[in-house]
Amino acid sequence: MINLQTSIKTLTFSCPFFNASGVWCTSEKELKEIGESESGAIITKSMTIKKRQGNEEPRLYFDNYLSVNSMGLPNRGYRYYCQIASNLKKFKKPLIASIAGFSFDDYLFLSDKVEEKDFDAIEVNLSCPNILGKKIFAYDLDLSLTILEKIRKKTKKVLGVKLPPYNSRSEIEYLAKRLVEVGVDYASLINSLPLSAVVDVEKEKLVITPNMGIGGLGGEGVKPVALAHVILFRYYSQNKLEIVGVGGVKSGEDVYQYLLAGAKAVAVGTALLREGPKIFFRLKKELEEILKKKKISYLKEKIGKLKKI
Ligand code: DHB
Repeated sequence: MINLQTSIKTLTFSCPFFNASGVWCTSEKELKEIGESESGAIITKSMTIKKRQGNEEPRLYFDNYLSVNSMGLPNRGYRYYCQIASNLKKFKKPLIASIAGFSFDDYLFLSDKVEEKDFDAIEVNLSCPNILGKKIFAYDLDLSLTILEKIRKKTKKVLGVKLPPYNSRSEIEYLAKRLVEVGVDYASLINSLPLSAVVDVEKEKLVITPNMGIGGLGGEGVKPVALAHVILFRYYSQNKLEIVGVGGVKSGEDVYQYLLAGAKAVAVGTALLREGPKIFFRLKKELEEILKKKKISYLKEKIGKLKKI
């Protein structure tokens, strides 16, 4: 028997993967499909205070290699997700509320609202790239830390943060150390690469319409960037910050790479768009196959065990 169990603080995951927030998680039907699958947890679409239609269509494109989106936070609003939370408990998996605000106060309001409900964790999304005129919160490091510090003081739930890609080690070093001091339990690394464009040669057009056709990139090209973030956040936090790897996971081998790099679990976005929740069954089989070949019974033993060059 191969044991794929992993954990983040008090949360136990029977398999080390789940849906990336934003994919297959906007309606109760989709969230239940994640619950019924081999996904190790369920995370909601980032919820805002008011429900939102999101940006004009086409706003999402994906193929065998990548995805680009400018969704604009379409979601049913926090009341909806708070109402259905108790219906998702029966799956006995960690249930994570992703929250997204347009202001400091929005984040505090949303964290208070989900605190009273059946969620096991709050993931503060500070990295939505697609709201024109709104900069990505997480690029203001001190503002982000202040938001998280306030939420930390109010919540007993596991507290995570979703961060965007950075381009300097010094920012990552500062953030990693301060997130530990603030008491954030885990970081999801990384959100989509924010300024990306994909051209359709046939139509001689960009593949999505909103925001000049420029949106967040996901898929296999993102994986090396995300892996570097996993490694650096882990290093600079002296392994104290737990990590969920996000970016380009489409096989059991990808999951294994992230775990070796130090992630406790991974979230699946672009490949989940392509395959639907049955992907988790395939990932499980592929991961078990790798462990069997390597004669490993407990996946946990391999977390962070990337060898030195
Ligand atoms: C959206 C995209 C994101 O990458 C994110 O983190 C939140 C929202 C969106 O456009 O809906």
